[in-house]
Amino acid sequence: MPTEEAYCNTGTIGASPLRVLHAVVGHLVDSMTEVARVDWSEGGTSLLSGYSAYTEIREKIGRLIKADYRLIALTQNATMGMNLLANGLDFPVGAGVLITDIEHPGGRCGWELLAERRGTRLQKAEIRFPVEDPGEIVETFEEAITPETWLLSFPHISSEQGMILPAKELCDLAREHGIISVVDGAQATGHIPIDVEEIGCDAYYSSPHKWLMAPAGNGFLYVGKPLIDDIWTTLASTQWNNHEDNGYRLGQRGTGNPALLRGLEAALDLHFEIGPERAYGRIKELGDRLRRGLSRMEGVEVVTPLHPRMSSGLTTFKVEGIEGKSVQDELWRRGRIQPRALREGRGVRYSTHIYNSEDEIDRALRIIGEMIGSA
Ligand SMILES: Cc1ncc(COP(=O)(O)O)c(C=O)c1O
Repeated sequence: MPTEEAYCNTGTIGASPLRVLHAVVGHLVDSMTEVARVDWSEGGTSLLSGYSAYTEIREKIGRLIKADYRLIALTQNATMGMNLLANGLDFPVGAGVLITDIEHPGGRCGWELLAERRGTRLQKAEIRFPVEDPGEIVETFEEAITPETWLLSFPHISSEQGMILPAKELCDLAREHGIISVVDGAQATGHIPIDVEEIGCDAYYSSPHKWLMAPAGNGFLYVGKPLIDDIWTTLASTQWNNHEDNGYRLGQRGTGNPALLRGLEAALDLHFEIGPERAYGRIKELGDRLRRGLSRMEGVEVVTPLHPRMSSGLTTFKVEGIEGKSVQDELWRRGRIQPRALREGRGVRYSTHIYNSEDEIDRALRIIGEMIGSA
């Protein structure tokens, strides 16, 4: 990336480091260069994925989220994780599925389809903004739970507002009510620390192409014991009934591209080398600097909660009288800064990752201040 350009849309897709890209491209080139030398019965997995367990990579994901690899399925992305759960669980007739009104389609539509097709009842916890405290989210869920609620699902970090939800407290609440808890971690992997045991969720799925900077086309689904044994796989192939390695069973999908898995592994290795806590510290420090600057400005509304437990690398804000798309365009035109404008009236979402800097943030704040001054 040219040094004068600032990429601030990690919330959509992370900028993969060269090491990750080389792992992908290198594998593609090497495997085809050597294709005639491959004895399929011994080394076929270098040519295609889908027919081996990829234990090593699943162990590395397990290290990241603190889980046994047998509880982790490789998927294509977060959306696939959600759908594997919605399709794979045997829901009782009339079961309530409680989600929020701030889901990304990748955390919502599988549950919608289920309601349409199987007659489950879709329930919604309506989050009232501005949110000042994690306890308010827990209260909202408490009010929304009914005797029918059978499963609840929520984003660990919401896509649009960049709000970190109190995952542990919400999963505790689910357990107290005998409800299955599912966490959509698409925005969390490689971003904030994740410990599925501590969170106490029954399932957790994610897309590592954002904050972990892995190539797109990778994802994972974790399901805790004993629930994992009860989930049917949606896509069946040779291992569809392998209950010794449930993660492998749920990750069935036929031939895939092993180069993408090499890229995922390189991204995981790099993340461990940097240190998950260190990466999180830097992401949060930069996000806090941006939020501090924005919240001091007249005419700027910071949508992302300022509570220290509720925000990190995503910051959503609105500038009075100026559409998000115009803010995005001006940041690029005047400062070569590329955040993401949200739908009309929803403002701008600005991601700060370890490849961003204080200088860029100060530049962005200056430009926004100038725009307000001349509006
Ligand atoms: C919170 C959340 N959930 C789910 C998704 C869907 O991710 P994917 O398209 O990788 O499945 C996104 C994507 O931005 C997201 O932010």
